Amino acid sequence: MAGFHLLITVIALGICYPFIAVLFGRLRRIPGPKAYAVSKWRLAWDDWTGLRTRTINALHQTYGPVVRVGPAEISFNSLSALKTIYGAGSGFERTSFYSMFDVYGKKNLFTFHGVKDHANRKKLLAHAYSKSAMLNGKAAELVTEKVAEYLRLIEREPTTASEIFSSIHYFSLDAITAFVYDDCGKTTALRGSQVDRALLNDIVDSRRRRLSWFAIHMPTLTRWLYTRAGMLERVLRPALPMQKPATYTGIRAHALKAWQTFYAYSETEKSASLDTGSVMARLWKHHQSQKEGGLHGLEIASECADHLLAGIDTTSDTLMFLFWALSLPENQQYQKKIIDEVQSVSGLEADASPEICDKLPYLDAVIKETLRLYAPLPASEPRSLPTNCMIDGYLIPAGTVVSMAPFSLHRNAEIFRDPLKFNPDRWLDKTAEAVEMKKWWWAFSSGGRMCIGMHLAMSEMTTLVTAVYRLYDTRIAPGFEGRSPGITSRFEVFHDEAFSSIAEHECWVDFQKRT
Ligand code: HEM
Repeated sequence: MAGFHLLITVIALGICYPFIAVLFGRLRRIPGPKAYAVSKWRLAWDDWTGLRTRTINALHQTYGPVVRVGPAEISFNSLSALKTIYGAGSGFERTSFYSMFDVYGKKNLFTFHGVKDHANRKKLLAHAYSKSAMLNGKAAELVTEKVAEYLRLIEREPTTASEIFSSIHYFSLDAITAFVYDDCGKTTALRGSQVDRALLNDIVDSRRRRLSWFAIHMPTLTRWLYTRAGMLERVLRPALPMQKPATYTGIRAHALKAWQTFYAYSETEKSASLDTGSVMARLWKHHQSQKEGGLHGLEIASECADHLLAGIDTTSDTLMFLFWALSLPENQQYQKKIIDEVQSVSGLEADASPEICDKLPYLDAVIKETLRLYAPLPASEPRSLPTNCMIDGYLIPAGTVVSMAPFSLHRNAEIFRDPLKFNPDRWLDKTAEAVEMKKWWWAFSSGGRMCIGMHLAMSEMTTLVTAVYRLYDTRIAPGFEGRSPGITSRFEVFHDEAFSSIAEHECWVDFQKRT
């Protein structure tokens, strides 16, 4: 009988615990809806329906800059929290959420949990991605060459170029594969390789959102499901969130092949390829310079594959939104300003070079505004600290997941007037209001975990946009009026919120050559 009572008490406590934790736990003072505080599955439901980021933004509008979005998860939306969590040397670490970006079972810059492992790896790569490396030498030549190929695509295959979701993906794919792998893995999608163009199939498959959901919320089950073989695999196949080949399989296979090609080189060939300065060759050089240890082959492959994956959608989604926004009838004034700027700068008559394009103030404002309204990674960037800390006046216990999102920071109506309106001119002001806006702009993250590819992305974007508007006007293609393109980020589709008609992974723009 006593055993029975004990069992009932344990069950009752199990059921009541989440409610007790909400009422008496250490996070009880943090504002937010109780349903989110009781169970992590409430936010997981928003993830499932693809509404996480928009819901969190709405919660901030209701509850203010600090909102409890899970039993042990808090979202912030203030400059003070930004500095505490994402400032240089903050000590905050990436959470296990990022493990889904491990490649071939190995950690990389994106997925290292601890500050030290991450810093050691970043040190090896920082120079390759520095601004000076991007504006001069091989990287600048590479970007110039890819931009020229894009212009040739517009002339040679106008219909292909006109669907800018795909054609700009070809551009970013060719650029990042050349930068990371050089001859061992560079693609030629712009020049017409159908095999390389097919790598995009991985990206546009909308079932990858379901797979991301399972990978984050049920990681062990997901891993188990995808590693079964034989009879069991056939039985389980209908239950898979995304049929095999699963997301990025083609791209990861391409990345692995590039590494294997490099590895099979003779020592002389390897040494010769060091001159290319590719990311892969640099990592190999480091490996060789170590007396003991160094990097495992799969660690090099994982790091390179991560840069490849990080460098495709981000840059191309941004460029696509930029061309689309400038092509809308209501934004022609902004397109005209950019054309005027590009035409007035000397040195651009023959060709667009990254170094000159880096210094165009109106272009910079257009890119800033595009990244504000259409950040390709708009969602929360979760972090945690192994010790207690204070953020915005609240005691945050060790291990609590804290996060901020560019989406919410960039839509704060107290900072950005008329936040949903695309208006590059807002960045040209020299007022105190404009200075404040710059502090809230967070498209590339900040601190130690800031995007390493920022200067490469900026160089690709400034050079391509300049080259296009030097020669062409752009307009929304007939049939695409009244629609916003949509992009996938994790388990959500993002688009311009003013439009109700969304075309996922599709965007049509006409390039009209000026005479
Ligand atoms: C417009 C283009 C881009 C945007 C807006 C962007 C944005 C970001 C953001 C927000 C993060 C932090 C994510 C997080 O902590 O959750 C990040 C990290 C990263 N990005 Fe980018 N990115 C862009 C282009 C690129 C390119 C071209 C590369 C090519 C290598 C790249 C490589 C990376 C890597 C390796 C990290 C991890 C850095 C670290 O943890 O130290 N990104 N990026």
